[in-house]
Amino acid sequence: MDRQTATTVSALQPPAEGASPAFDRTAPVRAVLAGIGAYLPLNLVTNEALAERVDTSDAWIRERTGIRQRYLAAPHETCAYMATAAARAALADAGAVGSDVDAIILGTSTPDQAFPSTATRVQAELGAGGFAFDLSAACSGFVYALSVADAMLRTGQARGCLVIGSEVFSRIMNWQDRGTCVLFGDGAGAVFLRAAPGLAGPQTPGILSTRLHSDGRLGDILYVDGSVGRPDRPGHLVMNGREVFRHAVHLLAGAVAEVLADNGLTAADVDWLIPHQANARIIEGVSRRLGLPAERVVITVDRHANTSAASIPLALAEAYADGRIRRGQLVLLEALGGGLTWGSALVRM
Ligand code: ACO
Repeated sequence: MDRQTATTVSALQPPAEGASPAFDRTAPVRAVLAGIGAYLPLNLVTNEALAERVDTSDAWIRERTGIRQRYLAAPHETCAYMATAAARAALADAGAVGSDVDAIILGTSTPDQAFPSTATRVQAELGAGGFAFDLSAACSGFVYALSVADAMLRTGQARGCLVIGSEVFSRIMNWQDRGTCVLFGDGAGAVFLRAAPGLAGPQTPGILSTRLHSDGRLGDILYVDGSVGRPDRPGHLVMNGREVFRHAVHLLAGAVAEVLADNGLTAADVDWLIPHQANARIIEGVSRRLGLPAERVVITVDRHANTSAASIPLALAEAYADGRIRRGQLVLLEALGGGLTWGSALVRM
């Protein structure tokens, strides 16, 4: 069957069972954050408890990073398990169910298996339709996934999309390397996006814009030194912390300036900055450059540590649940991670 014939036949026939519904692709569509949810593992590990098995101290960790504790996953708390729990919470918040979901995009660097994707495991658990896939952009995974979801909703490829960040970094830690193992934690966060037609301008709800970047030349300053293709060496995280720090603030400040400029807005218009929670000093550096006071920055790194792609939705979920973030407010997200990858997103709640 040639392309012309295939087009004609599919245009005449009703969509097959399970096919995406037809869309009016000419109407402008916004991706609106309809629901937000999160999951943290049950096992809370303080710096003091960590110092019993790692040559470190609460004072060193706090002073360098702001971290006081982290949650570490038990064996049953897999990437898919935590992602599903966060997704269920986001759907409940939106008043939605699994059958309302026709796309799942899951940012993770610690999937349970090389394939199938963790996203398809979540899809099965939720009874969702459509399609599901994982996205690898390290700590920028949630911002990348949000950007891809936004594009898909705008172009009519989905109407209800779960964007999830889920990570079990404790599984790729080298527990002999005190320079990295104290920095990370596990967890998951999710948002449920609904396609909403007819919204325009920076005052109406939805994802206003996103900006993504990567620079593969910097791939060796933060990486995993193994792979699923090497059963003898599944891999541990390796980081040149000083180099990451050196690049982080100015790259993030640049990405943030871009999304604001895209919408004719300035930092003064931002109600909340939700940065990737890598460490308190990077967060302070970016917010200082923006001129944003600490009261308008959501911080969870002290309690969650760095949960990579899960850190932004976890922080968003916390500030939304406790009433700090309210509908109508302008929220700015930014992240940087291995790749290097980095990016930003501007969202009207
Ligand atoms: N406890 C006690 N001492 C430690 C520890 C620890 N956990 N880790 C390292 N040290 C020691 C080192 O051995 C070294 O000792 P020495 O001077 O006797 O040789 C000393 O502390 C300084 O080590 P550095 O690695 O130079 O420490 P630095 O001041 O650079 O701080 C840190 C390390 C916190 C990682 C810092 O480089 C940083 O903030 N980097 C930013 C990168 C980051 O946060 N990455 C997170 C993941 S990436 C991301 O999400 C964007």
